[in-house]
Amino acid sequence: MVKICGIGAGYVGGPTMAVIALKCPSIEVAVVDISDSRISAWNSNKLPIYEPGLEEVVNQCRGKNLFFSTDVEKHVHEADIVFVSVNTPTKIRGLGAGKATDLTYWESAARIISDVSNSNKIIVEKSTVPVRTAEAVEKILTHNSKGIIKFQILSNPEFLSEGTAIQDLLNPDRVLIGGNQDREGLEAIQKLKAIYVHWVPQDRIITTNLWSAELSKLADNAFLAQRISSINAMSALCEATGAEVSQVSHALSKNTKLGPKFLNASVGFGGSCFQKDILNLVYICESNGLTEVANYWKQVITVNDYQKGRFVKRVVTSMFNTVTGKKIAILGFAFKKDTGDTRKTPAIDVCRGLLGDDACLSIYDPQVTKEQIHKDLSVSSNVVKQVSVVGDAYEATKEAHGICILTEWDEFKSIDYQRVYENMRKPAFVFDGRNILNVDKLREIGFILYSIGRPLE
Ligand code: NAD
Ligand code: UDX
Repeated sequence: MVKICGIGAGYVGGPTMAVIALKCPSIEVAVVDISDSRISAWNSNKLPIYEPGLEEVVNQCRGKNLFFSTDVEKHVHEADIVFVSVNTPTKIRGLGAGKATDLTYWESAARIISDVSNSNKIIVEKSTVPVRTAEAVEKILTHNSKGIIKFQILSNPEFLSEGTAIQDLLNPDRVLIGGNQDREGLEAIQKLKAIYVHWVPQDRIITTNLWSAELSKLADNAFLAQRISSINAMSALCEATGAEVSQVSHALSKNTKLGPKFLNASVGFGGSCFQKDILNLVYICESNGLTEVANYWKQVITVNDYQKGRFVKRVVTSMFNTVTGKKIAILGFAFKKDTGDTRKTPAIDVCRGLLGDDACLSIYDPQVTKEQIHKDLSVSSNVVKQVSVVGDAYEATKEAHGICILTEWDEFKSIDYQRVYENMRKPAFVFDGRNILNVDKLREIGFILYSIGRPLE
């Protein structure tokens, strides 16, 4: 029986390893993490992350060929293939701070692998890493194992999106595997490919050299984020000219050279990946002396920050230039629907902006806890009275002067807005940061409605 060990039981490691276990009953999969609380949660009825369909997959395999453990050494030691899905955040200190990737967790995983291995292994980079990381990893592994044990490093970046992780893993557009182009490297690529062919059609499995695979992941996220910043930049122009961004998006989406996805104007993109990976790309470009290329990609982030700032400004200016002491309902705090993840969510910047103008916020998100929201907003004793986290949209909007929709949860589309309107202060404002509401219907009820990229009334 082939044994796989997945290091890192987070948003990527957990679902990815669970789907491999589901699709390959003959493979034993152990997912390990240094965090006791995360592993206990994976072994409980309340999984540490919310992801539609994940619970069913875990319930089918856990205890059979899928195990969650904190015994990193034991499972790495026993494995033939080790997937590394540890976090690779942006460095906050030192050389390249604010842009470069912090590879501390990756390096510590590599050192554990070299310490406990006494058989040849394939090491799979699942984490998103700077291009040429495999070279550094190889040095750590071979120098520490004194060359006796042979490691083959593969880059197999993960393209899942949160909220649709299981669907994306079960039916991926493509699986990318990069490896050394010598005989041993090509053999390792085939071994990893043999796992995916259990459920992924052969023609969707792309094999490349190591550096192309590593860079393709950064390129992928940069291209996606760039489309959002492009349409968001257009949304500002739409508001100034009378064009409607949804009509512009629709027209663009029919251009077969562009395609329909990632054209929704919004309050801005969030999530743990886009900003971090673009900053990493910027840093790599700068390190290679490519200043213009670095500046080009930096603009994607600049426009995203502009879009969040513009939203706050719109709220304050529409509400007669003052939100001091006014209750504003925040509907949605996660960075997108169907996840409880708040990493880099635009809601943090919008809420901080409104708190800076002394608004009182009543926040509701179906999956984000009060503790998480307080932590994200760094709610200290002087602003604690300004922030309340409540259990439903009706409570959040009661007696409010305005509503900000910051996440596109489906349930926000089916709220009884007539009832909401009756319980609000007048004039009642709605700022739809995700363009999910029916503009005509809400205006008919009496709301003053602002949505992204549409002219004001
Ligand atoms: P995460 O923070 O949710 O999970 C990482 C886990 O690794 C944590 O639980 C941490 O405790 C564990 N860990 C760190 N060092 C360890 C070590 N030495 N030994 C054992 N466990 C260790 O992160 P994530 O969102 O799953 O992302 C992981 C990687 O995948 C990142 O590089 C990210 O850029 C990439 N990625 C993320 C997504 C996404 O949507 N979240 C999608 C594609 C790729
Ligand atoms: C992203 C990539 O899509 C995925 O391929 C990669 O593996 C990880 O990073 P994720 O961050 O989970 O996935 O979510 P995604 O659906 O890409 O959304 C990112 C952000 O962009 C969210 O805040 C979302 O609301 C926003 N977005 C997305 C828009 O504002 N408009 C769009 O049209 C699409």
